Amino acid sequence: MPSLKKNQNSIFIDESNKSSINAFLKTKNYTSYFIICDSNTLKYCLSKLILSCKELKNAEVIELEPGEESKDIHVISHVWQTLTEFGANKKSLIINLGGGVVSDAGGFVASTFKRGIDFINVPTTLLSMVDASVGGKTGINFAGIKNLIGTITQPKGVFIDTRFLETLPARHIVNGSAEIIKAALIRDRKFFDNINSARIKNFAEEDVISKSISIKSKVVKIDPDEKGFRKILNFGHTIGHAVESLFFEKPEPLLHGEAIAIGMAVESYISCLLKRISKNEFEKIIQCIGRHFQFLPINEADMTFFFTYFGHDKKHTSTSFNFALLNGIGKCDYDIKVSKAMVQKALLYYNNNICNAA
Ligand SMILES: NC(=O)c1ccc[n+]([C@@H]2O[C@H](COP(=O)([O-])OP(=O)(O)OC[C@H]3O[C@@H](n4cnc5c(N)ncnc54)[C@H](O)[C@@H]3O)[C@@H](O)[C@H]2O)c1
Repeated sequence: MPSLKKNQNSIFIDESNKSSINAFLKTKNYTSYFIICDSNTLKYCLSKLILSCKELKNAEVIELEPGEESKDIHVISHVWQTLTEFGANKKSLIINLGGGVVSDAGGFVASTFKRGIDFINVPTTLLSMVDASVGGKTGINFAGIKNLIGTITQPKGVFIDTRFLETLPARHIVNGSAEIIKAALIRDRKFFDNINSARIKNFAEEDVISKSISIKSKVVKIDPDEKGFRKILNFGHTIGHAVESLFFEKPEPLLHGEAIAIGMAVESYISCLLKRISKNEFEKIIQCIGRHFQFLPINEADMTFFFTYFGHDKKHTSTSFNFALLNGIGKCDYDIKVSKAMVQKALLYYNNNICNAA
């Protein structure tokens, strides 16, 4: 009998997903199932899921192309079309089997089709286990802007089986560790101390995943609609999203977590400049992130990009920007105004000191 731990908000961590998904389906009366996956999760994960849950063996499978390009309105339209052709209705269940792309796109499909049908997430990447599949944000990219269109709709359950990580490329395990480090930094000093010197394989362990999820889900429970407190989850993301977009144009784009790692380094420095964390704490954070991530340089010429990018976001003004910043390791505040000059100073410091030091 596999261990079954009920986390919060219907999040289950279960060695083979077996008891939890089966128990969940038994409590419902769904008349049809649709599994949304991408070609990699179809190849590596679908049979594992169906072996654990025979009920799903007659599910219709909708396959997306792997990658960010699937978070696109034309792809969504195609999935809506397929659901229509196969008679999906309010008694159907969508199962998103994949990483953050599948849960973002599949969650968006489910939350809009017939004004919303039930969906569950079965995350298969570390990033989606600890972050993307939890919290209810769904979405697609539009007009070149990431996640511009979307909903906040909670899945009926999130079913985590760490065996899926066995086939995940190593770079994607490192990628997911960024969000675990973030969770520790914003809410739990002791957890940070535990993972500070951990090896990358430790981040894929159930206990670490479970702790990280419980941090995120507690924050989401307090503020599901991101009216205030949930914004602490954006630590590292104001700079990180700009870094992600900047590298998107380059020959070697960064993964989400890789950009967030750089974002956390810069935003930790801003926290230090504002005396919210000590120099010692700052150095400890940089060492922790630097053990797993590359601190790639941001050319001085690219710095204007950051301010143009922030200009698209209504939470910033032309002279000051809104950040979630640390308040010691393990605490974080949101809506902290930071001047343009300070952001520039932090980016320069990153380039001259953190990159070189790495
Ligand atoms: N909704 C949210 O709260 C939230 C939070 C963070 C990130 N995101 C979104 O998540 C997306 C990134 O998610 P991701 O990092 O999981 O990327 P992803 O979904 O693109 O998956 C990464 C790659 O791994 C492959 N893959 C997935 N599982 C596998 C497995 N078990 N074995 C082998 N290959 C596997 C996929 O096919 C893909 O090629 C971004 O679009 C980001 O915006 C959403």
